[in-house]
Amino acid sequence: MKIDTSLTMPQLPEGLSKAGLQFTLATEEDFEDIMAMSKDIYGGLDYLPTRYTSWLQEANRTVILARKQGKVIALESVVVIDNGETMLVEGLRVAPQERGKGVAGVLLRFCSELVKSKFPEVKVTRLTRDDTLGPKDFQKYRIITKQGILLVRFRAEDLKQRLSELGLGGEIHSTNASPARLDHTAIHKLYLMSDVMQGVLPHATIIQDWQPFKILPSNMAILLKKDIDWMVDDVSVPTVASLCTFPFRVPIGDDWYYLNIDMFGKNLDLARQQFLCHLQRHTATLKGHVMCQIFLDPPLWKHMVEFCQSTLGVELVKEYTEQCVVESDVI
Ligand SMILES: CC(C)(COP(=O)(O)OP(=O)(O)OC[C@H]1O[C@@H](n2cnc3c(N)ncnc32)[C@H](O)[C@@H]1OP(=O)(O)O)[C@@H](O)C(=O)NCCC(=O)NCCS
Repeated sequence: MKIDTSLTMPQLPEGLSKAGLQFTLATEEDFEDIMAMSKDIYGGLDYLPTRYTSWLQEANRTVILARKQGKVIALESVVVIDNGETMLVEGLRVAPQERGKGVAGVLLRFCSELVKSKFPEVKVTRLTRDDTLGPKDFQKYRIITKQGILLVRFRAEDLKQRLSELGLGGEIHSTNASPARLDHTAIHKLYLMSDVMQGVLPHATIIQDWQPFKILPSNMAILLKKDIDWMVDDVSVPTVASLCTFPFRVPIGDDWYYLNIDMFGKNLDLARQQFLCHLQRHTATLKGHVMCQIFLDPPLWKHMVEFCQSTLGVELVKEYTEQCVVESDVI
């Protein structure tokens, strides 16, 4: 289906206005074309193949494609969150042969115009980046918060064995010292009915699988629809909280899964405990290889690496990088 492209567009760069981009809403039929231009993205950890179909069903999300002579050359998705005040940009990608020509910039501006016309109450654009921001980015965006990215890889069965050697195999039994897994009622109580999480979360923001949310009932409704394990060290006075996705396949090879753990708080011991609990839960049933990405307070990164390598015997995939939540005003 073609969308209304008659919106007032900002001035297009010379080359592009000549080349003529068309913008359409993404559909199921575009899947193969999108995957074809996404091959090299995120070192095989691209989440889009798994998420694409559900993205198309989400009521508050718009997935836009840029086409050149009918061929898909770029994608961006925009989801409106924070009670309609924030436009969250995700999935941005441009076909390799079209990069460096200003396509991403044009697509971003097109989507911004489109969202403004559909949701006039939107005030800011937010996005999460893991690349190094340059001076131009700092002119455009303010930084909301940063998390360190720790990427490790292991075979599920090896880690399961290692955990059992450490006396950590099997199911976690709740004791006073164990982290608590939260059900929906407990999540609601902790995150919405008190302000204790404000001090635990960076900039009072729940960053879940790259998506930054303010603590609002409308955002919690989005989060509670997802398969996530929510954990805290203490339900009355939490110091560390974490959210872990259920493992999902990534196209790096057969039997490769991705596990994403967002960890908030500054206490290393408590962060380690929750990390272990998430690993135990998911390696119990998983077979195959796992890429596990942990996002955590930057000063904890190197200590957690040591723990991963020397205690768990898992392999560090890349050196320190950062997940950066940035924001700009919608003008
Ligand atoms: C990053 C990528 C989308 C840039 O595409 P491009 O067409 O070469 O970029 P442009 O020539 O338009 O370059 C710059 C514009 O894109 C923006 N941009 C570049 N990287 C960006 C990023 N990671 N997130 C958001 N915007 C980005 C710049 O701010 C700039 O905007 P401006 O024109 O308003 O100043 C492209 O290199 C790509 O597909 N890379 C692989 C996928 C990827 O890393 N996506 C980033 C998701 S976080």
